[in-house]
Amino acid sequence: MSSFPAITAPKGALALPLAPPPAHVAIIMDGNGRWAKARGLPRIAGHRAGARAVRRAIEAALEHGVRWLTLYAFSSENWRRPREEVSDLTALLRHYLKSEIAELAANGVRLRVIGEAARFSPDIQASLKEAETITAGNARLNLTIALSYGGRDEIIAAARKVAEAVKTGALDPADLDEAAFASRLFTAGMPDPDLIIRTSGERRLSNFLLWQAAYAELIFLNVLWPDFAATHFSEALADYAGRERRFGARPG
Ligand code: FPP
Repeated sequence: MSSFPAITAPKGALALPLAPPPAHVAIIMDGNGRWAKARGLPRIAGHRAGARAVRRAIEAALEHGVRWLTLYAFSSENWRRPREEVSDLTALLRHYLKSEIAELAANGVRLRVIGEAARFSPDIQASLKEAETITAGNARLNLTIALSYGGRDEIIAAARKVAEAVKTGALDPADLDEAAFASRLFTAGMPDPDLIIRTSGERRLSNFLLWQAAYAELIFLNVLWPDFAATHFSEALADYAGRERRFGARPG
C-alpha cells in the first residue's frame, strides 16, 4: 500500500477547494453489507473492503488539511448483530490496530476512541489504549474512532456525571451551561463536527454525535462505504464550501 501523503507536497493540490476545509469531518460509514451482497460475498468481505476505505478517508483528510476526522465504526446497537459478524468485526478491528498504527503515528495522526471501549475484549482494549498512548503527541490529524458508541448513551452518561457533581456539591445546577455539559461528553475537548457525511444513500444520523451535530452540515452520498474514494471526500468538501452556515442567526 502507498504511504500517506507528505505534509509539504499534497498531491492534486490544484483540485482542492479554495475555501478553508471544515475543521472537523465525521463520517457514518454505511453500506458494507450491501456492497458484499451485490458481489455474492460474505458480509465480512464488505467490512474488510470498508477498512481499506477507512485508509482512503484518512489519506484524503490529511491531504485536505482537515484537522479532525471522526469515524463511526461500531454502534452500541451493532452488538445485536449475529454473533459471527460481531466476532468478524472485532477481529478486523484487532488486525487494523496492529497493521495501521505505526503508519498513522509516523504521519502525525493522533488516535482517540469514543464509546464504551470497556465492552470489547481485554486485548482490544489494551491495543486501543496503546494506540492512544503511542499517538498522543501527534497533532496533524485527530482521528477519532467511535466504537460501541451511541449518542443517547453518551448524553445519559454525561447527565449522570452532572447529577453526581450536583450531589457532591461540586456543581451548582445554576452553573450548568452548554460548555459544562459538553465537558462531560466522550468528546470533551473536541470541536463539534462541521460536516457529517453518510454513505450508502441512507439519510439519518442513527444515534451518531447527537449533541455535537447541532449545527453540522449533512451530506448524504449515494456510494457504498467500500467504494468511498478520495474524489467523494473532495466533492463533499466542495459542497460544504458552498454552504452558508449561520448557526441559528438571521441572514445578514
Ligand atoms: C456499516 O455497514 C458498517 C459497519 C457496521 C461497520 C463499519 C466498519 C468498517 C468500515 C470497517 C472496520 C473499521 C475500522 C476502523 C477497522 P453495514 O454492515 O451496516 O452495511 P449495510 O447497511 O449495507 O448492511
